[in-house]
This record gives sequence, structure tokens and C-alpha cells, in this order.
Amino acid sequence: MDKLKMIGGKPLQGEVLIAGAKNAALPILCACLLSKDPIELRNVPDLQDVRTMLKLLKNMGVQVSFPDPENRTHLILSAASITSFEATYDIVKTMRASILVLGPLLARLGKATVSLPGGCAIGARPVDQHIKGLKAMGAAMKIKGGNIEAKAERLQGASILTDMITVTGTENLLMAATLAKGTTTLENAAREPEVSDLAELLVKMGAKITGIGSDKLVIEGVDALHGAEHSVIPDRIEAGTFLCAVAAAGGDVLVKHCRPDTLDAVLVKLREVGLDVETGPDWIRAKMQGRPKAVNFRTSEYPAFPTDMQAQLMSVNAIAQGSSTITETIFENRFMHVQELNRLGADIAIEGNTAIAQGVEALSGATVMATDLRASASLVIAGLAAQGETIVDRIYHLDRGYDRMEQKLTQLGANIERVK
Ligand code: EPZ
Repeated sequence: MDKLKMIGGKPLQGEVLIAGAKNAALPILCACLLSKDPIELRNVPDLQDVRTMLKLLKNMGVQVSFPDPENRTHLILSAASITSFEATYDIVKTMRASILVLGPLLARLGKATVSLPGGCAIGARPVDQHIKGLKAMGAAMKIKGGNIEAKAERLQGASILTDMITVTGTENLLMAATLAKGTTTLENAAREPEVSDLAELLVKMGAKITGIGSDKLVIEGVDALHGAEHSVIPDRIEAGTFLCAVAAAGGDVLVKHCRPDTLDAVLVKLREVGLDVETGPDWIRAKMQGRPKAVNFRTSEYPAFPTDMQAQLMSVNAIAQGSSTITETIFENRFMHVQELNRLGADIAIEGNTAIAQGVEALSGATVMATDLRASASLVIAGLAAQGETIVDRIYHLDRGYDRMEQKLTQLGANIERVK
């Protein structure tokens, strides 16, 4: 099991290139199931979760090719012939986003068997809204032996209003609606940029979608979708993670190939922390001198502060001047990083869905354990700021969502290495 070993205390200097967004790439890969024609994708991040999704799609008969074998971010997917409509537990249990094949399989084939994802470290994460929406579109949905067994002659357009805002729920229903008979409205739809990026690809494939970027999507079903080319939107969470690293460790970093316009809520908070932020169309220059200032924040759906950035900004608050409150409103158990940060000398208490951090002068290195993807990132950020040596264990969590983070940090001057 790989670990990351780092010696903290060095400011970060230089440039970092941001990869394509994991949470856009995952639904976009599944969109290939909607058409017999190939889709060509660029800027796909080379991550564990993407490799898992490609394995799942290949198991279904999707042909995956890399025009340039050296370049794993450019690929062509062809779902001309789908040989299986099943997403089995062995894959689904390693990646909940596998649920995103459900809508496209139902729309294209009229049947799907997808293992229920089960819970995960950050919460129960049920998929009842996905099931409810597909039922509204006329699918017969059965839960049997831990699987969702879905059938539909042809999905029918429906008016759907989800009980809460759900990112993959919106994406599953959006993809299903593109080939349904009639018009579907999705109200209370998620507005995350990754949902809009998926919608842009679907429109290029011939889908008829209006309201992209709003909380009401209207989809007029068509009989078939054709091939398309698309470049995946840059990952706002990876960009935000590096910005938090500069805020915690100090330095002067140019973050390139990113989309500042998808990071407004994060940039507002980081400026409050004292990060000097300058932005261009596809770059952010971040400079930090001295100790950050503590900042209160609460997570909420886009465009508000993203839950996927909560752990990372908490690490900045851990060493900030003053105390702060951090409220997590999306997931019920997304504070697993708190105990690990306290092992590094942080002073953070949890009261329900709020963490109270008393900023400390400095953290001191220790061995800590990653528990989930963004918790791993927060521990790396803390280790970069801590005095002495920090070892972050179980970094397979980190590899799910970050492409060679330690290499990018080394290029920024950090003293960090991967140890087996
Ligand atoms: C997506 O997860 C992201 N994953 C998550 O990113 C992200 O944290 C989350 O959205 C919130 O932004 C991908 O896009 C692959 P939700 P998702 O459905 O779609 C409840 C990361 O770190 N809910 O928006 O699973 C749910 O329990 C990952 O990259 C239901 O109750 O999240 C949660 O409390 C972590 N029933 C809330 O809604 C449902 O049917 C939001 O969940 C669906 C959701």
C-alpha cells in the first residue's frame, strides 16, 4: 500500500497544469452508451476512477482506443455493440459513480442490472432519486439480491422534481431523457459545471436540451444520438486543492488550464484567508505570505462553496489566525479528516455537522491515514505546512481523484515522495 512521505515548511513556487474534471469525465464516459457512433474525448484525466469506469464499459462491450498510446487523456469510445447490460458489485463497490451506466443502458437497450453502490466513508449516499426518476419515465425498477434490475420498452418523457439536489441523479436522468419518447423536465436539477459539461456533449451528440446551467433542464427526446468530439472541462476541485496548498504552505504559484469562472465561491473564501489571487481566462496566480486568517464557511450545492473543497480549506483553517466554524450540509459523515488533522497538532472539535477549528501556530508532522479522496488531499496540504516529516498512509484514496499529485507538488518545490 503506497504512502506519501513529505517534509513540510517549504513554500510552493512555479506552475501547475490542471487535468480534466474527474466528475465530468465519469458521466461523459457513460454517455458513449447512448450512441452506436464513436465519441472522441480529450482532456480526460488519467485517474484510478477513470480506469475503473473504462474497465466497466469494456466489460459491457464498449471499444476503447487511444489514438496516441502515449497520451492517456485522448481516447475514442465506441458502443456500437453492447454485449452486457450489467454493472457487477465487484466494480460498483470500488466506485459508486458506476451507477451512471443505469440511465444510458435503459435508454439505449431498455434494460440494465446495476449493483446498488452501498454506502461509503462519507455517508449512506442512497440512489433513491435515480430510481424514482427512472420509474417516473416508465421504467420497471426492482431491487433484487443487492442489484437494481431495470426494464423499459421505451422510456417516456416525464416531469421530475428530485427531493434534493443530486449531481449524479441529475446526470443519470438527463442521459436517460435524451432518448425517451416525449419531453422530460428535471426540476431542482444540479447546476454543477460538470453537469453542464455532460449536457454540452449530449447536445453535440444531437440531444435537445434547454436550461443548461440552471436548476430546470428540459429535454425533448430523440430517436437516436450520433457521435461527437468533446474536451472535458478542467477540474475545479483539483485547482482549488492546489490553491489551498499555497494558502497553507505559502509561495507563489501559477495554476494553468483551469476555469476560474467555476471557482467563484472558493476564490471568495481564499481571498478572505489572505491569499492574493489574480485570474485570467484559463489561469489563476496565487501568492501567500505569512499566516492565513481563519474563515467561516458552509458547504452547499453549486454555485455555493463545494463540499469537495471542505476538507482542503479546513487544513488551511487548522493553522490560521483565529477560530472558525465549518459546516457540512451535503454529507452526514464528511469529517473523517478531523481526527487525522488533530494527530498533526490541529485543534478541531466536531459538533454535529459543524467543525470548530482553533487555529494553531504550527502543525507537527506525524503518520496519518487517508480515509476518503478529499480527506487525503487535506492531509497532504497539512503535511506541506507542518514542521517535520508527515507520512500519509492509504493514498489509494488520493489516486482515485488526483493524477500524480506528488509529481506536481515536487515540481512546485515541495519535499514529497511516494513510498511503497
Ligand atoms: C457527486 O456525488 C460527486 N461525485 C461527489 O464527488 C460530490 O461530493 C457530490 O456530487 C456533491 O457535490 C461524482 O460526481 C462522481 P449527490 P453524488 O447525489 O452524485 C443525497 C468527489 O470527491 N442523495 O449530489 O453521489 C446524498 O446522500 C466525490 O469527487 C440521496 O439522498 O452526490 C447526499 O447527501 C465525493 N438520494 C446529497 O443527496 C439520491 O438518490 C448529494 O448527493 C441521491 C443523493
